[in-house]
Order: sequence, then C-alpha cells, then structure tokens
Amino acid sequence: MTTSSSERGVSLGMPELPAPDYPDDVRARLETDARAIVARYPDSRSALLPLLHLVQSEEGHVTRTGMRFCAETLGLTTAEVTAVATFYTMYRRRPSGDYQVGVCTNTLCAVMGGDAIFEELQEHLGVGNGETTADGKVTLEHIECNAACDYAPVVMVNWEFFDNQTPESAKRMVDDLRAGRPVAPTRGAPLCTFKETARILAGFPDEREGAVEATGSAGPASLIGLKLAKGEAAPARVVHPRGEAPQDAPPHEPSPAEHLSSHDAPQDTAASDPSHPSGPVAEEGE
Ligand code: FES
Repeated sequence: MTTSSSERGVSLGMPELPAPDYPDDVRARLETDARAIVARYPDSRSALLPLLHLVQSEEGHVTRTGMRFCAETLGLTTAEVTAVATFYTMYRRRPSGDYQVGVCTNTLCAVMGGDAIFEELQEHLGVGNGETTADGKVTLEHIECNAACDYAPVVMVNWEFFDNQTPESAKRMVDDLRAGRPVAPTRGAPLCTFKETARILAGFPDEREGAVEATGSAGPASLIGLKLAKGEAAPARVVHPRGEAPQDAPPHEPSPAEHLSSHDAPQDTAASDPSHPSGPVAEEGE
C-alpha cells in the first residue's frame, strides 16, 4: 500500500488547495462589486484584470483566496487565474506597504539618476527591492519605464508620478509618507493608499473631490516632440551645448514656460554627412 506525500507529512512545495474563503460579509461585498465589473463585458472572462485589482484592494495583494474568488466568479480554473496574476507586475503576490514607492531604473532614468535614487532609498529605508519598512508604510521597488522618460528620473508612488527626482527629494518624500505628512505628486490625482488605488484600477469611480479634474494632460516636456513633428517652432533652448555658452551673456534664468524640465530641452541634431546620404545605396554595377 502506498501513502500520499501529505499523509507522510512531506511538503512538495505546492500550495495546499483549496484556498480558504473570505468571511461571509467580505464575500458578499465583493460579490456585489464583482457583478458590477462583470456586467461591463460581453464575455465574463474579460473581467479578470479588474477583478484581480478588486481582490487586491481588499487585502493589499492578490492572495490565493482572491484568486479562488476570481476563478469561481468567472468560471475559470485557479491555474488560469494564477497564470494571469503572476504575469503582470501590478499585482502583488505578498503583503506590502500602504505606499508602493517604485523607482524607475530603466535605461534613461537610470543614467539620469534613478540608480542613485534607488541605492540611497535602500540605505535610507533599510530595505531591499520588494521589501517593506517595519512600520508597514513603504514598499520599495525598482520598476521599469513608465513612459515618463522626458521627466527622468521618475519615481512613482502608487502609480502617481513624481518627476525629476533626486536622492534628496526622494528621501524627503518617503520620510513624509512614513510620518503621515501630506505628499503631492508632481502631476495627476492626489495620492491615496495602495488599496484605494487598486479599487480605482478595478474601475470604480475616484470620488475624492478634485481627483478627476487633477488628472490634467501631458506636460510641456512630453509635447515638444509632437510640436516638432507638426513643424511648429522648436522651443527656446534651455541649455547651451557644451562649450557654446556665450561668454559675456548675463546669467539666464529661464521662465517657467521655457524651463521644460530640470534637464535639457531637445538639441538640434548634426547635419547628415553628405558623403553618406540617407536612402538606398546603389549596388555596384547598377
Ligand atoms: S526610463 Fe524611466 S520613465 Fe522611461
């Protein structure tokens, strides 16, 4: 007669199934919210991503219980839900802090100071990548490009932008978050906790006063490329190329409209080398 691994008390490293259920009152509340989400889609399985945000808003991360709830609600297997929840980095798999502080260490932000910010925050907070401070306030992560490269280096807190950061400004910001002092993103809606953010990402309205209006639009640094593509005049150069600053010109204080970010405005590119014209090169003998 053979005995199973569980009878022998041997763990194979697999989670025990099924996951525990939510308390009745929590489940009833989530079921009401889930019905509202599922009703938005012609095919219920399309509701999986917002549903994962919904269960994340309950516990601050996607638990096995949350994945089981999603599977049961949508008629999927827990394996299918797990495959999706583990693919996207916006779903957390373990408990973490009220504020997810993500430092962009993708190429552009990294060279503009993102690597230095991340290293100094690790030391300042005493935590490593993906770890949470002992007070449960801040989870530090390095993150990939958030399409805000024109404001590099960028730090995101619960997916709100903090542009043009320095190690000092980032340390001040996490200190304020931990102390409960008001912290305002550079642009976009006011900050809220990670759980509240997850509920908004599930598709429920952000009912905080002024939050929707604060979303705003693209900033000047993001719009320069569009203006150039449309043939509109390039904005005034903020920083002269190295070695070309006028020697006797008075110090220039750029106006707010001129100062597009804390870094250089786009520079003219060099003219093409006439001996290497662009376009197809004729093969020898043609
Ligand atoms: S590289 Fe950091 S936002 Fe793009």
